[in-house]
Amino acid sequence: MSASVLFERRGNLALVTVNNPPVNALGQSVREGLLEAFRAAEADAQVEAVVLLCTGSTFMAGADIKEFGKPPQAPSLPEVVNAIEACAKPSVAVIHGSALGGGLEVALACHYRIARNDARVGLPEVKLGLLPGAGGTQRLPRLAGVAKALEMIVGGAPISATEAQRHGILDELFDGDLLAAGSAFAQRLLAEGRGVRRSGEQPVADAGEAAALLDAKRAEIHQRMPGLFSPLRCVAALEAAVQLPLAEGLERERELFRECLASPQRAALVHAFFAERQAGKVVGLAADTPTRAIASAAVIGGGTMGVGIALCFANAGIPVKLLEIDQTALERALQRARDTYAASVKRGSLSEADMARRLALLDGVTDYAALAEADVVVEAVFENLEVKRQVFERLDAVCKPGAILASNTSSLDLDAIAAFTARPQDVVGLHFFSPANVMRLLEVVRGAQTSDTVLATAMALGKRLKKVAVVVGVCDGFVGNRMVFQYGRESEFLLEEGATPEQVDGALRAFGMAMGPCAMRDLSGLDIGLAIRNRQRQSLPPQFPLPRVLDKLCEAGLLGQKSGAGFYRYPEGSRTPQPNPALAPLLEAASRERGIARRSLDDRYIVERCLFALVNEGAKILEEGIAQRASDIDLIYLNGYGFPAHRGGPMFHADQLGLDKVLARIREFHAEHGAWWQPAPLLERLAAEGRQFSDWEAGQ
Ligand code: 3HC
Ligand code: NAI
Repeated sequence: MSASVLFERRGNLALVTVNNPPVNALGQSVREGLLEAFRAAEADAQVEAVVLLCTGSTFMAGADIKEFGKPPQAPSLPEVVNAIEACAKPSVAVIHGSALGGGLEVALACHYRIARNDARVGLPEVKLGLLPGAGGTQRLPRLAGVAKALEMIVGGAPISATEAQRHGILDELFDGDLLAAGSAFAQRLLAEGRGVRRSGEQPVADAGEAAALLDAKRAEIHQRMPGLFSPLRCVAALEAAVQLPLAEGLERERELFRECLASPQRAALVHAFFAERQAGKVVGLAADTPTRAIASAAVIGGGTMGVGIALCFANAGIPVKLLEIDQTALERALQRARDTYAASVKRGSLSEADMARRLALLDGVTDYAALAEADVVVEAVFENLEVKRQVFERLDAVCKPGAILASNTSSLDLDAIAAFTARPQDVVGLHFFSPANVMRLLEVVRGAQTSDTVLATAMALGKRLKKVAVVVGVCDGFVGNRMVFQYGRESEFLLEEGATPEQVDGALRAFGMAMGPCAMRDLSGLDIGLAIRNRQRQSLPPQFPLPRVLDKLCEAGLLGQKSGAGFYRYPEGSRTPQPNPALAPLLEAASRERGIARRSLDDRYIVERCLFALVNEGAKILEEGIAQRASDIDLIYLNGYGFPAHRGGPMFHADQLGLDKVLARIREFHAEHGAWWQPAPLLERLAAEGRQFSDWEAGQ
């Protein structure tokens, strides 16, 4: 029998235990083992019922994602699942942790399901560009109805055991030992004469309403997830559950699953899944690097970022002191914190009790002495090196030895900041994104002297704050903003060459970006960064010109949403962009000043100009070692910049297009537009060697 699945007969019960750490994924050996175990149970005359459970922290968390895209190995999961359901002896799945994807499909094929109170179940395949391919789309609607199945399969979010029981997915909940609960349940089944009960043989309860539910979900998908490949196929598979007998429905599900499996979107989403896990593995840091305990925190500066960062700590249950320059500024900051929570309560995403609990963890102060015992301090004061110097000198004087001193700076030199203290090894960058309590991305900036322990602690803290933490090196803008500068610049050049904001934003949104660059500029304010641009203009050599269009708009008082108009108009406080008739003459003036005859540009050209600017800079960042690996850059773009997950991130997208093709276009842009487009040496090298960003590692 397979080493990953143990079979044991205990009295009249067969105990089938899956043991495939870390998450009991249904790899080939588990599939084979399950098949053999159920066959053995069937063949053993003394076995009257089967109890299926898992070791470790979780029930089966799904198919083995690492096997996707590789040649299939028998037995297939549908074969295993069908054999489990067909078993002539009643079976009970005992769920703890998470029963996800194929794991839940195995459980649905068992004749009964019980779960520990804290368990979760779900079919998250859609998040990997797939649909449940082992009967989930056929069995779930038979147990829970089409409405719930649509929600779970198209949405992909797991639900609690309590909710699952309410919807007929689970039979009973328990606390305590898995084996004891499973055995007791199985004996009870036998005593009560309850035998085999196959999900696949049950009718779909709400079949009468299915047509309307399916249509409504399709309309929602067209509106909210245009361009996504798998959600519509999820709906098609559920339609098959309603319209076809089980065997034919399963066949239809398989066909649709194979289509998804072969799609580039599936490859991109699986890349994104592993990128997130990979980011936690820091180059040069041993897995057992010790971390420091973080039991309390402090934030300096209660502005836009500081309040959001303080909320992150409170949300994670970590007491946090928020320090401002004076009582008035402090009261303003605390009020903003209260308002943010109150808005969540109003939306229904936070309970009154949780709000009270979190606010109780937030303590406003104006005296640095209050920070003496903080385990970590995050500075979020004005972006000015002199102000940072004053703050870090104070911190160095008052904070206890071993406290982590972090800066949220977005553009200043972290090593210079560290040098303001006598403990640069304890200084690290924690670069949050606005709004800090919402955005998942956290760039963890490793300074020249940041110690391994501090870096490891910062990464662990990121996880506790429920962030996607990615290590980056010190440079202007780190990874995300350094790249977005290139992207923004190209989008502005395109406006000067002949495109309209509607066209630039429309082309990039059609590609999948959450927001176009012009609407994004309007949101953050067109005057933001203007001073920096003026400084850059003076320091950059003449072959690196900067676009003028933003200056033109600012001169005309068009500052974006805050002034009611920018690239778009926002009448009466509306946040929905509308065409701005005042714009055309300003764009024309900017073109004239640069001596450009405006021309029509097609959408593909627009997308290539903006995206390949990201890719070229990303290649430089990789070669300089500012990012550890291409997938880290992708993760930053997916979580901080609205890059579509189904494209996998800019570097993955370039790999999929083929680096030779990307380089060829970059060379054309170089010939056409000059020095900004100098191809990155790493891109040239990888393209020449027929390699990809994904197989590049520093030093190779
Ligand atoms: N296959 C292979 N490896 C998996 C895996 C899977 N389904 N799920 C997790 N892993 C690996 C991770 O890559 C990671 O490996 P590493 O330590 O080498 O980096 C390790 O397991 C631990 O994962 P996490 O760091 O994510 O651990 P957490 O405890 O934070 O989360 C989890 C656990 C909730 C189970 C989370 O890993 C998860 O959501 N996994 C994916 C679940 C999923 O999408 N299942 C559906 C798969 S598709 C499918 O089943 C198709 C079927 O319908 C035919
Ligand atoms: P802000 O101007 O909104 O807030 C700064 C706050 O710091 C003010 O409330 C001010 O009173 C306070 N402050 C100034 N000096 C202080 C001192 N010596 N002691 C205590 N408090 C002091 O600025 P914002 O936008 O919150 O930015 C803060 C930092 O975060 C900057 O370094 C910025 O570059 C960085 N950042 C900003 C992002 C953004 O989107 N706004 C995103 C990521 C990083």
